[in-house]
Parts: sequence; structure tokens; C-alpha cells
Amino acid sequence: MSISAQERTWRDEFPITRDLVYLNNCSLTPLPRRGRERIERFAREWTELGGRAWYDHWIGEYEALRGDIARVLGADVDEVAVEPNVSAGLVGIASTFDYAKRPKIIVSDLDFPTDGHAFLAVAPRGAQVEFVRSPDRVRMPLELFERAIDERTAAVCTGHVYFTTGWIQDVKALAEICHRKGARLIVDAYQSIGAFAFDVHASGVDYLVGGTLKWLMGGPGIAFLYARRDVAEAARPSAVGWWGVADPFAFDVEHLDPGKGARRFEYGTPAVAAIYAARAGIELLEEIGVATVRQRHMLLSQRLVDGARDQGWTVRCPTNAQERTAIVTLEHSDAHGAVDALRARGVISDTRPGLIRLSPHYFNTLDEMDRALELLAPLRAAAATA
Ligand SMILES: Cc1ncc(COP(=O)(O)O)c(C=O)c1O
Repeated sequence: MSISAQERTWRDEFPITRDLVYLNNCSLTPLPRRGRERIERFAREWTELGGRAWYDHWIGEYEALRGDIARVLGADVDEVAVEPNVSAGLVGIASTFDYAKRPKIIVSDLDFPTDGHAFLAVAPRGAQVEFVRSPDRVRMPLELFERAIDERTAAVCTGHVYFTTGWIQDVKALAEICHRKGARLIVDAYQSIGAFAFDVHASGVDYLVGGTLKWLMGGPGIAFLYARRDVAEAARPSAVGWWGVADPFAFDVEHLDPGKGARRFEYGTPAVAAIYAARAGIELLEEIGVATVRQRHMLLSQRLVDGARDQGWTVRCPTNAQERTAIVTLEHSDAHGAVDALRARGVISDTRPGLIRLSPHYFNTLDEMDRALELLAPLRAAAATA
């Protein structure tokens, strides 16, 4: 395999690349070396200090992580809550609305399940979830959201990038439409943050949730919630925890005094090992630079898209790299069988219903894309006839 010195350096962080062609980064980027080192540091602190580690290290790391996330988003520190996962963040947001006044929540049929579930679960409190449907199963035209939002709409909750198509939504335009009609915009940005430059203040969104599993390279256990300063200060979530109050270490059981800004959306004791891994992933992203990541995503994913189209695959993601992230989806009626066949030959991909999903990251190479295409070619006939 011919790879440049630069690519070699990038790949050295990911030992998995020695053995496998890893193309499942939009699900979970493998643990980088520095993430492993930080988790080992956490284990040493726990072993040697026990509870003292909270005060000597862990609370500081937790607040530093909040700062890292704020920097990545272009947010202020108090606009960021650290969450255990995106679902917890959405449950907190869903608990803030007065559904008697405005019952409608709009979600798209391309959204990740939890974006709908968080609001379907508050139906007994009056929420009515309405789904807008993508005409091409790839994109969601703004006009369809616009038509669905009315004076009874509390919020639109939708993805910045759809997990089965990689399509990048214009969240700034959507925020303008929502605000014109008096609704909030909640964005699930799990598939976008870390994949391309984004400034949350410039976008105008009210809430945004995301996590570190994917392009941020920080693994499971850490997610985040952004709430714009004015939105956060006005919010009174009913899903709460003692870390979300103004002074958790006052140990006041009798009063609920919401934490500053988005902190009020936090719950209880965080998973500290995950904080260490998350900070390492974000550090790595900042070293590489999000512009480099974006350039590599476009280059590598376009090779896959062009190659797959040449082989006759039906490609579900947008074919123009500007319109999508590094998510490439190919239709196959036995996607599980196809993904297993690829795995048996050392290429790791994933399935979503009826789709093979391939997602390179910046450390992958064009040679690896060609290897994946070589293995995909014989599976193509089965895609048509299975
Ligand atoms: C768009 C999107 N939202 C949410 C999630 C996951 O949510 P949670 O952190 O609650 O597991 C994923 C993927 O795992 C995703 O792709």
C-alpha cells in the first residue's frame, strides 16, 4: 500500500489500521493511542487516590471537557451541559416545553430514533409528534418543515446530518423558519460535529445535542447539550439531577436551584474514564484540524461513491461530496450478509435497514477505498437479485 508520510503519522494513532480497513467511523471511531493512555491515567488515579481523585483531578477534567466542547462548537462555556448520551440530553429538553400551549413537535422520518422517542414519550403530557417525510429518502427539503410548522408548534427536532444518508442540512435556514413561526429548533448534531467547521452561535439554533463516539474520536459515555444562553436561562427542565443545580456540593436536598445556563440539564455522577477518552479525541481533532478532516472526508468518500456507481450500485447518499459527510450508503437487500462478507476479508463497515454503510475518517487512505471497492464488486450482483 502506498501511503504518504503524513498519512502514516495519522494512522499511527490508530493501531487497528495495521490489521483492518476500518470504515465504520460514523458509528464508532476506534480508540486512538492517546485515548488509551488517558484511560490508563484515570485508572492510576483511581487506584492510588480513591475518592481524593475527584478533587485533585476529576472535577477539573470534567470542567475542562466542558471547555473543550464549547471551543469545538463556538459556544460559551455556560451554554454547554455534559451528558451521558444524546438521549439523556433530549429527554431534558423535552421536559421543558409547555405542551398545553404548543403541543406539536416536528421530526423527520430520516432522523435517528431517539429524536422521535424523546418526544413520543411525553405524549401523556400533551406532546403531539408529527413526522415530515423525505421525498427522496436522502434529503429533507426546507419547504416541508416550513409547511408543517404552525402556531401550535413548540419545536422542530431534527438532524444536522442524517445517519443513513450523510446529507448536510442547512440548520441556519431552518432556525430562521422556526423562529419566524415562534418555534424552537433542536438539532441532533451527532453526525456533524467534528466532520466540518460549525459555529453554533452563527447557526442560530436554540438547542443542539451531540456526542464523542464518532468524528470526535472520544468514545462512548460522553455527549453534550448546547442551549443558547437566553434559552438555557429561561428553561426549567423537569428531568434533573443533583449535578445540575447551582451548587451541588451544598448537598441541599430541600431546594432545587437550577445550575447556571445549560448546566441545569446535567444529571448525576459522570463516567470519568469516558471524560479522559473524550478529551483525548477532541485534542486529536484539534491537532489535525477540522478543515483537513473535511477535505479528507470528501476525497475518500467520493472515491467510494464514484467507484460504487461505476459498479452499478444504487447509492443512497448524495453523490456530490459538498452535500454530504463521509457517510456512503449502498442499497442491498441482504446488507447484513454483505457486511459479514466484507468483514471476513478485513473491511469493517456497518448496516442500516437495507443499506451497507461505509464511513472513512481522515486516517483512511485511497488504497483502502479501492480495497473496499474490490470486495464490493462481487456483492453487487446479489444486491440486485437478493
Ligand atoms: C444522529 C444520531 N443521534 C444519536 C445517536 C446516538 O444517541 P445516544 O447518544 O443517545 O446513544 C446516534 C448514533 O449513535 C446518531 O447517529
